[in-house]
Amino acid sequence: MNLDALNKVAEAMVAPGRGILAADESTGTMQKRMDAISVQNTEDNRRDYRELMFRAKEAMGYVSGVILYDETIWQNAKDGTPLVKLIEDANAIPGIKVDEGARDLLGGKPGEKITRGLDKLHERLPKYYEKGARFAKWRAIIDPNNISYAGLLANAHALARYANLCQEFDIVPIVEPEVLMDGDNAIETTAAVTEWVLKETFQQLYYLNVALEGIVLKPNMIVPGKKAARQASIDEVAEKTIKVLKASVPSAVPGIAYLSGGQSDELATAHLSRMNEIGDFPWKMTFSYGRALQAAPQKAWAGKAENVAAAQRAFLHRARMNGLASKGEWKTDLEKQAA
Ligand code: 13P
Repeated sequence: MNLDALNKVAEAMVAPGRGILAADESTGTMQKRMDAISVQNTEDNRRDYRELMFRAKEAMGYVSGVILYDETIWQNAKDGTPLVKLIEDANAIPGIKVDEGARDLLGGKPGEKITRGLDKLHERLPKYYEKGARFAKWRAIIDPNNISYAGLLANAHALARYANLCQEFDIVPIVEPEVLMDGDNAIETTAAVTEWVLKETFQQLYYLNVALEGIVLKPNMIVPGKKAARQASIDEVAEKTIKVLKASVPSAVPGIAYLSGGQSDELATAHLSRMNEIGDFPWKMTFSYGRALQAAPQKAWAGKAENVAAAQRAFLHRARMNGLASKGEWKTDLEKQAA
């Protein structure tokens, strides 16, 4: 393990002004995204869509790294250029989702999930490194309304096993314990469960000697469930998120890159910006958004070659807004200015 190299990559991933494009949707998740814009979910369409983002030079100026799905890391652009090279040419770092999704965890609460993918991970990681990946991602899924200690522990331990393996192969692990926001739980429940999950995760990272200087944490923000009776203000989300993270995340971690988790794209930007405006914490804070970066370009593209420029403009706008948010400089009136 070369901790100096890992730390440099981690710092670059969270450098102010830039953040991570999570373009690692599995083929199943892409089915939902493509259905929403009435486009067939074929290998070529997935390639064309992702290629348009990676070729959007100006937008990619706000992107420090791109998380890829296994299919994409091996794919070439239409003209034969490896997609990984397009990302590198845009001065962004290629990364790879290495978890293999979640399945029901028998023995936990009914419906509790455990993330799969540790078997043979030590064989897959060097191949991804050779292809250009310098960071990886593993997502644990926690439902705040359906949680047992056994489930939490199993997920935290798997995150630590994954992080430990990544570092052995000089790949920065993005550690992503996601507390879901789909339910009706109050913001206080999200706060309490997230604090528990983060504390258990860092305990497991400690037991496995994971070097915190060489990871990036990808948590959820502290928001109420989407169906909660009381929604929260931007200030409340920002303050509660900072409070929970300060209570749970060691300052040796270089940076935090939030998932958007189903927030609207503008709210995900506003929350991040407000936190960076407050600025009372020891880490860099940026974005690692999937939906909050891509919903607008997907809609603009709609599977048509003649819409590529419009989709790239929509992507630029969201990337620029989030780049500003990573410095606490986003304002509502900037949101209204088209890219
Ligand atoms: P969202 O920003 O759409 O939540 O996706 C981020 C991600 O990578 C989830 O694993």
